[in-house]
Amino acid sequence: MDFPEGFLWGTATASYQIEGAADEDGRGASIWDTFSHTPGKVLHGDTGDIACDHYHRLEEDLDLMADLGMRAYRFSVAWPRIQPDGVGSANQKGLDFYRRLVDGLRRRNIEPMLTLYHWDLPQALEDRGGWRSRETSGRFAEYAGIVYEALSDSVSYWITLNEPWVAAWLGYGYGGHAPGLKDPGAALSATHHLLLGHGLAMERMRAASDDNHLGITLNLHPALPGRDRDVDREAARRVDGQANRLYLDPLFRGSYPEDVLSYYRGRGADLSFVRDEDLRKIAAPIDFLGVNYYFRHTVRDAPDEVHSQEPFSDLRARPIVPHAAEKTAMGWPVDPEGLTEMLVRIKDEYADLPLYVTENGRAVHDYVDPTGEVKDEERISYLDAHFRAARGAMERGVDLRGYLVWSFLDNFEWAEGYSKRFGLVFVDYGTQKRTPKASARWYSGVIRRGGLEEPAR
Ligand code: FCB
Repeated sequence: MDFPEGFLWGTATASYQIEGAADEDGRGASIWDTFSHTPGKVLHGDTGDIACDHYHRLEEDLDLMADLGMRAYRFSVAWPRIQPDGVGSANQKGLDFYRRLVDGLRRRNIEPMLTLYHWDLPQALEDRGGWRSRETSGRFAEYAGIVYEALSDSVSYWITLNEPWVAAWLGYGYGGHAPGLKDPGAALSATHHLLLGHGLAMERMRAASDDNHLGITLNLHPALPGRDRDVDREAARRVDGQANRLYLDPLFRGSYPEDVLSYYRGRGADLSFVRDEDLRKIAAPIDFLGVNYYFRHTVRDAPDEVHSQEPFSDLRARPIVPHAAEKTAMGWPVDPEGLTEMLVRIKDEYADLPLYVTENGRAVHDYVDPTGEVKDEERISYLDAHFRAARGAMERGVDLRGYLVWSFLDNFEWAEGYSKRFGLVFVDYGTQKRTPKASARWYSGVIRRGGLEEPAR
């Protein structure tokens, strides 16, 4: 099963999850530093202080990436390395690190794909309201302008935000991520200010130079009813509204979905932070959409859960994992069909534009066995199935241009700390030794051949 010549095969990471060096070279504190250092927020009290020590091991990590034959690398820039307090002039040492990274990729013929915001908001901005405040949207555009000016000559692919749903709803709505608020109204305002920040950043980057590809990454999850009954279908529709359409509609249609707004208005939400001209900015054309896909939500109507503060409880919906599903080490169902479904839906319902799978992968209970190997067969069959699902979408006309596997290295998995391993490369955190897993070798072969072998794994 072949993929087109020039298809961008690679891996993805994020600054806070791998860099470490939390106090180095003038980096300021981010909301994830504060959150991870707050007892009880992250499993085992793990923090990103050291993480994969990638900041100090940049060259050897890039060598390994090149040895594995990667064609592209999606990474994120830590805003507090560039503006320690989220405002003002750039910290040159912060920019220097990403310059070394980008030049190192170019020297090795690996295409850089840069994400400006993968959740590490400067704490100083959170102290002034964070994404609940309109001011943060403007600050984000200024920061984007600084990074763009420094690196736009060498980076062709720019992603403004990673997964605004997660930043807004897990961060401000349900509390499992930094900054840890549990207030759906705050999540709605964070959603709007994140999207407005995206729009303002796009405007600024386009004005500086229009030679590059500019886009955004959403985490998209089709939603299925748990049982074949109307109340579950309605619950699935509410979840689809908050998780998918609340982001896709403003970006591609210039409006928020009316059913979602009226649901929250009915619960007393004040949406006066949305101004008319904002939506025009949010809907300015993008060159590509990044899709992070992990699984479909299966949901049941759950009228009693409305005060539980679990994800989707405010929608009177409860996500379940079907008994029959194979589950990853995160407890997430393995569900490749949902990837085809989502990619085709974007083309049919929103826009026929270039798409990239900017994240997909699974956690496995990986370990180095007595022969020194990590035999992650589960990850190989997972990736094989999802690559086939992506190819299926392409056969149905989807313009998919690349695939970035989450993740290059095992890393700090947010509230799960170091307990969940998503890497193609195993990291022994105590020694920082890197061991490519069987899946890394397998993926190298896929890239070299430009496709998958038959039969499916
Ligand atoms: C996504 C995040 C990424 C990683 C994967 C497993 O939601 O963007 O940082 O944690 O999930």
